[in-house]
Amino acid sequence: MTSIDDLIQALQAEGYEPDRRLAMAVFLALKLQRPLLLEGEPGVGKTELAKALTRVLQRQLIRLQCYDGMELREALYEWNYAAQMLHMRAAQGAAEPDQIEREVYQPRYLIKRPLLQALQTPEPGALLLIDEVDRADEPFEAFLLEYLGEYQVSVPELGTVQALARPVTILTSNRTRDLHDAVKRRCLYHWMDYPDRERELAIVRRQVPQASEALSTQVAQVLARLRGPEWADQFQRHPGIAETVEWSRALVALGRQSIDPEVLAQTAGLLYKQREDIDTLSQAAASVLQPA
Ligand SMILES: Nc1ncnc2c1ncn2[C@@H]1O[C@H](COP(=O)(O)OP(=O)(O)OP(=O)(O)O)[C@@H](O)[C@H]1O
Ligand SMILES: [Mg+2]
Repeated sequence: MTSIDDLIQALQAEGYEPDRRLAMAVFLALKLQRPLLLEGEPGVGKTELAKALTRVLQRQLIRLQCYDGMELREALYEWNYAAQMLHMRAAQGAAEPDQIEREVYQPRYLIKRPLLQALQTPEPGALLLIDEVDRADEPFEAFLLEYLGEYQVSVPELGTVQALARPVTILTSNRTRDLHDAVKRRCLYHWMDYPDRERELAIVRRQVPQASEALSTQVAQVLARLRGPEWADQFQRHPGIAETVEWSRALVALGRQSIDPEVLAQTAGLLYKQREDIDTLSQAAASVLQPA
């Protein structure tokens, strides 16, 4: 990848429309071999960026989906206890206890989880997506520091495991809580905003080619208005790009060439997932479509 423009084109060819600042952040993360932390509202294309980038770089995608209560053994590795037990039973009497113990801790009984898989992927290396890291707990964040800073982990049983090839590493967060400064300092950071009208139109064209040009244009217009200064305050949440794409597909499925207040009100549930927001849009459908 020799320039930001090349990267933009390559992502577009994989169906992803980045804005220039995002492309710049990705470009630098690749060049500097630093992890990239993408923060932003739900549905603005954080996870999708990682997926599109894997295809661009032709690397294997290894995904660690974080959640509350996730344990290290689900992120890093665990031992295959059942197989170890069988080995011990078979070896009993035939070998010294010390030797049996050494044998049950060999690599074949190790189950590698995403972090270890990523470290042990040979050249050109994997793309590790640590998705929704804000859902994991703080001890896990602390554990990640060594990986993020040096692409290695230290654990008592295995010692220090260094990366065979540095994985391209992308972390995403919905900012349900603030991440630790130490995590942020080890990453390049990019805040992902909702797209402007032009980029949203480009996304709809790419993701929903069946939609007519007039319909796609109107969809992008409506979304820009709903998230814009005039309407944003009326709603509790904002629709993400995921909702835009889904809504466009729904309108195509309904055979629509354009949007009128009636269909906007009837499909409000594709844009908003809060009952109050759906009611608000249903009642305001005509004025949302009719610029003052
Ligand atoms: N820039 C983009 N170009 C093309 N499609 C996009 C883009 N951004 C988002 N999308 C579409 O929106 C959908 C949702 O995006 P994605 O799941 O990546 O959002 P997210 O930020 O990870 O959301 P969440 O925080 O809820 O996980 C994608 O499946 C894709 O169809
Ligand atoms: Mg996501």
